[in-house]
Amino acid sequence: MDDELADGASRGVERFSLTGKVALVTGASRGIGEATARCYAAAGADVALVARSEAELMRIAESLRASGRRAMAIRCDVRDADDVQAAVVATLNHFGQIDVLVNNAGGPRFNATFLDMREEGWHKVIDLNLNSVMRFLQRVGPHMVTRGTGSVINVTSPATLRPWPGITAYGAAKAAVLNLSQALAQEWAAAHVRVNAVSPGWIRTEINRAFTDNVTAEAATAADVPLGRWGVPDDICGALLWLASDASSYVTGAHITIDGGLTVAVPEDWRALRIDRTWAESD
Ligand SMILES: NC(=O)c1ccc[n+]([C@@H]2O[C@H](COP(=O)([O-])OP(=O)(O)OC[C@H]3O[C@@H](n4cnc5c(N)ncnc54)[C@H](OP(=O)(O)O)[C@@H]3O)[C@@H](O)[C@H]2O)c1
Repeated sequence: MDDELADGASRGVERFSLTGKVALVTGASRGIGEATARCYAAAGADVALVARSEAELMRIAESLRASGRRAMAIRCDVRDADDVQAAVVATLNHFGQIDVLVNNAGGPRFNATFLDMREEGWHKVIDLNLNSVMRFLQRVGPHMVTRGTGSVINVTSPATLRPWPGITAYGAAKAAVLNLSQALAQEWAAAHVRVNAVSPGWIRTEINRAFTDNVTAEAATAADVPLGRWGVPDDICGALLWLASDASSYVTGAHITIDGGLTVAVPEDWRALRIDRTWAESD
């Protein structure tokens, strides 16, 4: 019996392995994308690293190759359809397959109230955060559906479910990415292609430099988070590994928040409130 339990446990852990899988990760030159690519390689995957900063990608690919994985740096602007097409073709030519697609490249780009934003700004943010995801899905989707296997993970944001003023285009794009993910989870389910989304909270990366470089803003932001701290890119990797692996083979259409409780939080002064016994018991 003990042996049986041990065998079962070992099979459970083995299902987290990415050995034999190929992952294409966009926005892999730094931040959450770089951490994900490194995590996937550590779990056994070969990785195609996609972003604009070629030197950074080559540096990361080199270090993954040094650890025994196959890794490829692909310069690609995800706003450019030809670049996206070339990135997918290059990955398939080099590795022969794509098992995992992580649509991670993106960011809010600017803060402006809706009435201060020009239409051009709206389109730029939608193009980077929504249309780029559509472009990769349209090119990788047929490959996965034909093979009858695949895992897609789209990176959203707390603004997906908790709309924020000042970043309306970004929130609208991320909400659309979630909607698209959950629709494709159904369209592609019969082909055993899973589509899920992950929402990181306040993570220490380049896009949050304005907050993390300012002690007051950094503390105020952390105070908004029930777990009371900023996250780091490695906080996101566990869920991204699970969703990429066979351990999540019964999971599709999910939206996982990794945000220290931010999405479900009431304001900080409410959380700090000590509920008065009399008030709590009256009724
Ligand atoms: N950090 C957070 O607190 C947080 C919270 C919620 C959601 N997110 C989401 O998480 C994802 C990753 O963000 P991050 O925090 O890791 O930010 P980051 O450190 O700024 O990384 C962004 C990545 O996207 C790539 N990228 C940006 N524009 C691109 C373009 N036009 N074409 C190709 N690649 C492009 C960047 O590479 P190049 O500049 O080299 O192209 C970089 O690798 C984004 O979708 C973001 O919206 C982040």
